[in-house]
Amino acid sequence: MKAIVLAAGRGTRLRPLTNTVPKHLLPVGSKPILFHVLDYIKEAGIRDIGIVVSPDSGPYIQEAIGTGSDWGGQITFILQPQPLGLAHAVKTARDFLGDSPFIMFLGDNLFQEGVTDFLAEFNASKPDASILLKEVSDPRAFGVAELDSSGRVIHMVEKPKQPRSNLAIIGVYLFTAAIHRAIDRTTPSWRGELEITDAIQKFLEMGKEVRSHLLQGWWLDIGSNDGLIEANRVFMDAFISRDINAVLACHSRIEGRVQVGEGTEIENSLIRGPVFIGTGCRVSNSAIEPFTNIGAGTVVEDSSLENSVILENCRILKIRRLADSVIGRNTLVTGNGRSPEQARMFVGDDCEVKLE
Ligand code: DAU
Repeated sequence: MKAIVLAAGRGTRLRPLTNTVPKHLLPVGSKPILFHVLDYIKEAGIRDIGIVVSPDSGPYIQEAIGTGSDWGGQITFILQPQPLGLAHAVKTARDFLGDSPFIMFLGDNLFQEGVTDFLAEFNASKPDASILLKEVSDPRAFGVAELDSSGRVIHMVEKPKQPRSNLAIIGVYLFTAAIHRAIDRTTPSWRGELEITDAIQKFLEMGKEVRSHLLQGWWLDIGSNDGLIEANRVFMDAFISRDINAVLACHSRIEGRVQVGEGTEIENSLIRGPVFIGTGCRVSNSAIEPFTNIGAGTVVEDSSLENSVILENCRILKIRRLADSVIGRNTLVTGNGRSPEQARMFVGDDCEVKLE
């Protein structure tokens, strides 16, 4: 069994952050989204991993992942010159995949359970393909599957206007090598993409058996700034445990599940978990309220933060209250400590914001 992770694509709904960094490298909890996906693969015991990247995202992703030794396997980077669809990404990875069965992950989807059970079911019942599904209230933004009473997939449509079920396709798929023949018979959709959903529908029309596994826990599709805040909230709520490595925490109160990286100094501040603070940060005269994720090397002084994602090497100074915000790397946000009552912002890398 091989694994491919799709990490090309533009991430336009996460601009301005994704103008400089691929969305797959944005943090959820203590690490980038893509690292969580690689953790699922490692946990499932798969060692031969291909990562599909775009000309833009490739160099950043390669630098962040390195040789892949953290995941104990062999990582191959596969260049998809243009984001022409998920099935096109599989076509691009054809040489890497050979005739092996494979598991495919969308590099921007996280979910509560790993894939071990999903994989075990596939290995036991040996269908031609299997997909992960989740019941959602509005399936129109997703691929949608229709099942028969035994859980066998009978019909698939990408982003239907009138969905035939409330079962959304989550970003994990298991395929035998026969899927390549279905992909070869698939044509681009109305949005100009070679859709994997259409390829699986073709697969069904070829008489192949496609099974499904219903996800019970949460699922996060990190497509927008609000999606990134929500993903951090859900993830930290589920997984952050108390682990404080601050070198100094004088005159401070640290309540609940707070994770603090090495070399961080906390002075005269209140930290109320779930909160993640990276390495080498400095927090002084401040309040860090729940669901805040602070990247390495960031300085927070005379400020109050809540439910926000602050990337590496920022300086947040004299901000009375910053909530529900996303701030890119190396950005300076300064205020006068009095107004406004509450600020909310989505700011990219290397910016300067003054609130007066
Ligand atoms: O999030 C689940 C949904 O993901 C499914 O319900 C849909 O059936 C499936 O088509 C997909 O829909 P999206 O429109 O949300 O896919 P998106 O364009 O966001 O791409 C998903 C990931 O795949 C993302 O990490 C970027 C990567 N990608 C995308 C394209 C179009 C590639 O690597 N290559 C591509 O050509």
